[in-house]
Amino acid sequence: MVRGRKRAKGAEPLVMVTAYDAPSARVADAAGVDLILVGDSVANTVLGYPDTLQVDVADLAHHVAAVTRAGPRALVVADLPWPSYHQGRRTAVRAAARLVRAGAKAVKLEGGALRVPVVEALVDAEVPVMGHLGLTPQSVLPMGGYRVQGRGAEARERLVADALALEAAGVFAVVLEGIPPAAGRAVTEALEVPTIGIGAGPDCDGQVLVFHDLVGLNPGPVPRFARRYADLLGQATEAVAAFAADVREGRFPGPEETYPEDAPGGSPA
Ligand code: KIV
Ligand code: NA
Repeated sequence: MVRGRKRAKGAEPLVMVTAYDAPSARVADAAGVDLILVGDSVANTVLGYPDTLQVDVADLAHHVAAVTRAGPRALVVADLPWPSYHQGRRTAVRAAARLVRAGAKAVKLEGGALRVPVVEALVDAEVPVMGHLGLTPQSVLPMGGYRVQGRGAEARERLVADALALEAAGVFAVVLEGIPPAAGRAVTEALEVPTIGIGAGPDCDGQVLVFHDLVGLNPGPVPRFARRYADLLGQATEAVAAFAADVREGRFPGPEETYPEDAPGGSPA
């Protein structure tokens, strides 16, 4: 049933990964992902902030432009940061326009039925919109921390209602974050548009991970929903430590890294 539904929405699960700069965008694109999300998680992953409330539209536009300059084939989606769509339609459209002019092909915003007027305004303004429900990190203050959402029949039904409201308003996809598999399945079965899960169980129409979690660039334990496929932080630390040891013990630079006195031309290659 879920499998049939998946096939109805697309032959294969959608793969989305975050990227925040040209190198991460190149990696994501070379790996063949379908969508690149320039997430407001840039606040935590790259900029050292404790939550996503700390970045604004200018910050996001800066990172969207860097991702776009890598020329990815994948669809670039940009997060509308808090509170760029909480002050009415005009400011939301203006914020989305800045992200589109920086290179985004779509924007993502958090929240359910409450966001319908803003989603409609963005769609009216010809900006494709992705929804985001469940554990929405921009709601960290009223949630009182990062808490799993959508547990129990009542909360699950609220999620489905919010998702249907977003779909009716015109979103082209919905991210589901931090909810049990039953809720992920219920929303996925209720919607015509695809769901993309992060900690939302195996039945979503796609999955998304944060680049830094996936490649092991985040210090500390990864969240339950993430899988670490590499240890780039460990490898990078080893590389820099090896450089430091080579310098201190006189092994760097060697003849290979040194310009001979008599070579013609000025090329540093
Ligand atoms: O900003 C982000 O990384 C996100 C994903 C977790 C979906 O919104
Ligand atoms: Na986000």
